[in-house]
Amino acid sequence: MAILKILTYPDPKLKKKSSPVEKIDKEIEKLIDDMTETMYDAPGVGLAAPQVGVNLRVIVVDISAREQDSPGLIELINPEIISSEGVMVGEEGCLSIPGFSSEVKRKAKVKVKGLNRKGHFIELEGTGLLARAFQHEIDHIDGILYIDRLSRLKRELLKKKIVKALASEA
Ligand code: NI
Repeated sequence: MAILKILTYPDPKLKKKSSPVEKIDKEIEKLIDDMTETMYDAPGVGLAAPQVGVNLRVIVVDISAREQDSPGLIELINPEIISSEGVMVGEEGCLSIPGFSSEVKRKAKVKVKGLNRKGHFIELEGTGLLARAFQHEIDHIDGILYIDRLSRLKRELLKKKIVKALASEA
């Protein structure tokens, strides 16, 4: 396994819609393993393939570090939200926008379907942080960042701060 480089905003690869995985082969399995190690190393509760420069619909989620009530590591290929209900607002960050976070409105409960690495169809339900992580990571494979979910005013303000921080780093 290897720790991969996490792309950061405003890398154009983060804005691209990712393609479905058509065949689960050794390469996809290695991608999942490397993404998992990269997520734990960061550390984060989720990671999507475009964040490591691969525009394929693959995500990994593990909220164990933040919540006791956790299903453990979840690997999902071609994930889709099939139903959702309620609304919640909570603080959200992203490994691709390090050092920042913002309150983001999300669905309170989501049902997700996808394939596991064996190609078996799986369905999962999440509330709270797990629901937030599913929505955040599935957004990533559609080229959407959490800052795109903010009101225009909040988004512009946060973007200015990020650009400023990037400029001072350079
Ligand atoms: Ni993210």
